[in-house]
Amino acid sequence: MMERPAIALSRFAGADAGQWQITSIDEFRGAGLPAARFLAIDDDASAGNAAWTLRGASSNLRYTTASERATLQARQEGLGRPAATRAALIPIRKTAEWWAMAQDERRAVYERGSHLPIGLDYLPGVARKLYHSRDHGEPFDFLTWFEFAPDQEAAFDHMLVRLRACAEWDYVDREVDIRLTRVMR
Ligand code: HEM
Repeated sequence: MMERPAIALSRFAGADAGQWQITSIDEFRGAGLPAARFLAIDDDASAGNAAWTLRGASSNLRYTTASERATLQARQEGLGRPAATRAALIPIRKTAEWWAMAQDERRAVYERGSHLPIGLDYLPGVARKLYHSRDHGEPFDFLTWFEFAPDQEAAFDHMLVRLRACAEWDYVDREVDIRLTRVMR
């Protein structure tokens, strides 16, 4: 039988050098993360003396219907846009109560909180990628990554206020908000 290749984990390290300069690290809920000057992504050479390293893998959709996916695909733009010189890395952990629920119960909470309709309001200004960490023995369940132009940062902050007021966020017990500026090379 053919063996499946091991899952490739992306690595985000708070280090002395990297592609992004860290402008702030704020704990929203639970324990924060130690200070670091740069974020090195998949860059072991820069991550030598890392203050912390977080890992996650992109994965299949859990809560998105086919029509929701079509709506997203029509409106979203990809990572790496030249104008998107700001980013946020927001690691999130959810409670044991969340993980004890069945799939349909979790989808109901996600839907009641309007996560997707709220998020759609900020596309295409904000580009995003979700990494799953829970099944990889990591301290957070998810690493969420967002890229946007500097003039979109206020809108991004407003989105966070709206999302954090949703029922889904009652199940978040650790969240750290790391803001970044792209290092020009
Ligand atoms: C930029 C606008 C956003 C859009 C369009 C969006 C959309 C989505 C979608 C479609 C999913 C479900 C993925 C699936 O089917 O598995 C999802 C999951 C998730 N999003 Fe967002 N989102 C946005 C912003 C945010 C923000 C700002 C945060 C964090 C502060 C966030 C945190 C998460 C987390 C942690 C999950 C995983 C939830 C779980 O599996 O339990 N999202 N998002």
